[in-house]
Amino acid sequence: MSLITVSIIKADVGGFPGHGGMHPDIKSRAQEYLRDNGSVLSDFHVAHVGDDLDLILLHDKGEDNTGVHKLCWDTFLACTEVARELRLYGAGQDLLSDSFSGNIKGLGPGVAELCFTPRKSEPITAFLMDKTEPGAFNLPFFKMFADPFNTAGLVIDPAMHDGFSFEIWDVEEHRKVVLHSPEELYDIIALLGAKSRYVLKRVFPNGGPLPKDEAVAAISTDKLSQIAGKYVGKDDPVGLVRAQAGLPAMGEVLEAFAFPQIVSGWMRGSHNGPLMPVGWEDAVCTRFDGPPRVTAYAFQVTPESLGRAADPFRDIAFDNARRTANDITDYLRRHGPFEPHRLPLQDMEYTTLPQVLEGLSSRFVSLPEAAAKGGAKASHKATPRAEKGH
Ligand code: 13P
Ligand code: 13P
Ligand code: MG
Ligand code: MG
Repeated sequence: MSLITVSIIKADVGGFPGHGGMHPDIKSRAQEYLRDNGSVLSDFHVAHVGDDLDLILLHDKGEDNTGVHKLCWDTFLACTEVARELRLYGAGQDLLSDSFSGNIKGLGPGVAELCFTPRKSEPITAFLMDKTEPGAFNLPFFKMFADPFNTAGLVIDPAMHDGFSFEIWDVEEHRKVVLHSPEELYDIIALLGAKSRYVLKRVFPNGGPLPKDEAVAAISTDKLSQIAGKYVGKDDPVGLVRAQAGLPAMGEVLEAFAFPQIVSGWMRGSHNGPLMPVGWEDAVCTRFDGPPRVTAYAFQVTPESLGRAADPFRDIAFDNARRTANDITDYLRRHGPFEPHRLPLQDMEYTTLPQVLEGLSSRFVSLPEAAAKGGAKASHKATPRAEKGH
């Protein structure tokens, strides 16, 4: 059986209004452009979350294919033209290069791709996030593939009992490691728990019916701030997961998002807030440019077509997660510009805050204690304990 590839390639080409949502003309242009120029594709679906345009693609060209990536780059350029005409906010925000050179990675857009041997039924879900960073996938995907309290199949399905392997990227040192669950569970948590530095990239099955070298989940890990060297908007990641028959059931995949974990991003990419799972209608970030959202597009993929898209988070069973996220929003907002609502300083490095602090640098004077210590250094001799009266 020949391999098929599902790709999500995404970019913010302009928000409507502000950074909150998507103008319908942008999506129409993407649809039109892919329809007229997408002969390299078997099928596509144009989606969005907040101000991010997500191209969900089916093809047989494998990962990192120049033709597929170039098509997306050109689609984003065509959509940016529309954004400029409409004077949308941040037109072309994520297109950080003037030209395309073989691969869209490193140019600004985010990419998640799965290349695999299709089974007779292939449920696959695209998770799209706005106002957060790639590490926001660490917790839900860990729960899906390693936590039996989320995924009962890890315990009761012999096809999943050998667990899964996690490919984790260190985005600061630009290196990666593959760790195996359940044997190395605590090491996996040690890394994935530090979500701003270690981000989950792919998941592979350890046993069961699926090929061990074909990833069953993938996440975009592109860090815009590191590409741009300054803050131009959050990374707003995407993830793809296959489900059922040797993998977590659809319900186990979705269950991982029923806990509205705290993620970083939100207003000016500088705040912690709850990740709210929402249906398509509610995939818009208005309150304080948020709170951060995740929406899902689920498909029964065939080799020829993505088929119809379903909207799983529309389910009222996620209402309590949304209610909790709204309560957390009220609570965190009361901190205003104070931590832990505002991110810690090291995470503010790529925002505009360093410019504000720079303006204050000449106003700082050394504390008297430090000056005294520094000045006394040359003549300093240790005082015998007895003289101090101890
Ligand atoms: P059905 O019996 O409805 O196919 O469900 C099986 C299952 O495993 C649900 O998680
Ligand atoms: P985006 O990354 O979604 O463009 O949001 C940027 C921002 O500053 C929101 O306040
Ligand atoms: Mg934006
Ligand atoms: Mg965005």
